[in-house]
Amino acid sequence: MKIETKRLILRPPRKSDWKDIVEGAGELDVSKWVPIIPFPYKKKDAVWFINDVMKKWRKKKKEDYTFFIELKSEKKVIGVTGIHKVDMHNRKAKTGSWINKNYWRKGYILESKIPVLDFAFNKLKLRKIETGAFAENKASNKMSRKLGFKYEGRKRKTSVCKATGKIHDENHYGLLKEEWKKSRPKLVKELNKKLKNAGED
Ligand SMILES: CC(C)(COP(=O)(O)OP(=O)(O)OC[C@H]1O[C@@H](n2cnc3c(N)ncnc32)[C@H](O)[C@@H]1OP(=O)(O)O)[C@@H](O)C(=O)NCCC(=O)NCCS
Repeated sequence: MKIETKRLILRPPRKSDWKDIVEGAGELDVSKWVPIIPFPYKKKDAVWFINDVMKKWRKKKKEDYTFFIELKSEKKVIGVTGIHKVDMHNRKAKTGSWINKNYWRKGYILESKIPVLDFAFNKLKLRKIETGAFAENKASNKMSRKLGFKYEGRKRKTSVCKATGKIHDENHYGLLKEEWKKSRPKLVKELNKKLKNAGED
């Protein structure tokens, strides 16, 4: 499956994406904020990751929808986002993401998360999406709040970052379908304004 936005295509991975993944995930400023990305990050790590995601996309009963974020103008994968650990009994799932450092602060996560959250709530009919961030990760904590996620508490010393070996407290957030309905229109407006300012509209 494929989701297309103004600047991006969100899609399952291709084998040939490995170089872009090594470039993006290989940057310590990315991996130091994600629990499970090794450092240094090599071709074999990207190939393993791509194969793992492909396997999950092939499953009939899917529990994971990991989208590779392709920047149309450069035909390049600049990040990853998705809906993970889908739990149909509770109708909830988790989300997470990263963007290649060279492409930060251009609204690409906003542009990705709007359709991905729409997909989760409207197509998968989920009622709640959860996410977490290391307590020190300003960008991610701010991003979650901006998307309308509500802070639900802090787990102490709960996560060891694979890249750095550091132990982190994690902030936890949840977004209910009814909250998404409320926060979405403002975010769409903001994104359109950003695209206009960037000359993309
Ligand atoms: C967090 C991350 C995905 C944001 O991606 P991005 O494409 O740069 O984000 P956007 O440009 O769409 O910004 C969306 C909002 O996130 C917040 N944000 C993003 N970067 C920020 C920063 N450096 N400082 C503070 N807030 C930030 C802001 O609220 C921003 O909205 P605004 O620009 O209107 O203020 C990116 O910084 C990243 O990949 N970080 C490393 C990996 C990571 O932390 N992943 C999440 C861990 S779960």
